[in-house]
Amino acid sequence: MSRPLPDFDTLLDDIAAEARKSIGRGKVADYIPALARISPDKFGMAICGVDGSEYVTGDADERFSIQSISKVFTLILALQTIGSNALWRRVGREPSGTAFNSLVQLESEQGLPRNPFINAGAIVVTDAITAHSVSPVLQLLSLVRRFSGKEQIYIDDVVARSEAEHGHRNAAIAHLLKSQGNLKARVEDVLVTYYRQCAIAMTCRDLARAFVPLANGGKQWESGEKLMTPLRVKRINSLLLTCGLYDGVGNFAFRVGIPAKSGVGGGIVAIIPGKFSICVWSPELDELGNSLAGTRALELFARKTKLSIF
Ligand code: DON
Repeated sequence: MSRPLPDFDTLLDDIAAEARKSIGRGKVADYIPALARISPDKFGMAICGVDGSEYVTGDADERFSIQSISKVFTLILALQTIGSNALWRRVGREPSGTAFNSLVQLESEQGLPRNPFINAGAIVVTDAITAHSVSPVLQLLSLVRRFSGKEQIYIDDVVARSEAEHGHRNAAIAHLLKSQGNLKARVEDVLVTYYRQCAIAMTCRDLARAFVPLANGGKQWESGEKLMTPLRVKRINSLLLTCGLYDGVGNFAFRVGIPAKSGVGGGIVAIIPGKFSICVWSPELDELGNSLAGTRALELFARKTKLSIF
């Protein structure tokens, strides 16, 4: 297999060593108790090129909870299920400038969430797949397996249950959305799907592979199968750039300059269009809920390789 950028192996090791110095300055997510048990010392990175070439370092083959990174897969499935026009009538495409789990705008903006990545928007997107399928989670898993090329991708039930038991803010958001007429399925059903999608467990390598279509005009990393149109790819990458890291998105764009999606499990996946996708995992988060050492690693990567979208 061709290795277009052979120095990536040592580069990733160097970046890992430097980014690891930030460990100890953040905090592992504890509002989902099952996530609080993860060792803050974990650190992995994986790159998957549009030609299938791969580069990894550290704990790149250890599974972690993908959390909000799942919102990208759900968005793709919802767009396939109800179509672009129907979905974008129910969710906006603007950065929120508020925390990912905020309820404030939802009340003042009559139940139209700002974007599909804040929890309110993601819950509407999850409703779109839940209201149109008897087994939305299986459909989502099958999409993730197809995108990543790996059959053995599962949900961590302990994490899903743990979030369900403590998910009072998400329940509040879902009930508010229901009262505002922007939820079609039963609140309980939407929340079950939502917690299960967030609890999908994947490795850095799996996620880097699964996001290659966003770097490659919609084509799967291994087979070249066309999974999305270039228009959809452009739109999703634009949303990642403007909304992928919540109220930290401006600072992330300033420091890194690459479209990306984070999750409170400590993962971040980023896209260099035409070249590769890159995933980093480090469980400690900054105060906005994005991986602290993960952000540092991507900043170092963009700086050292001079690769960003600008
Ligand atoms: O709904 C939640 O709060 C979590 N299941 C997902 C939040 C998340 O990952 C935000 N990302 N940085």
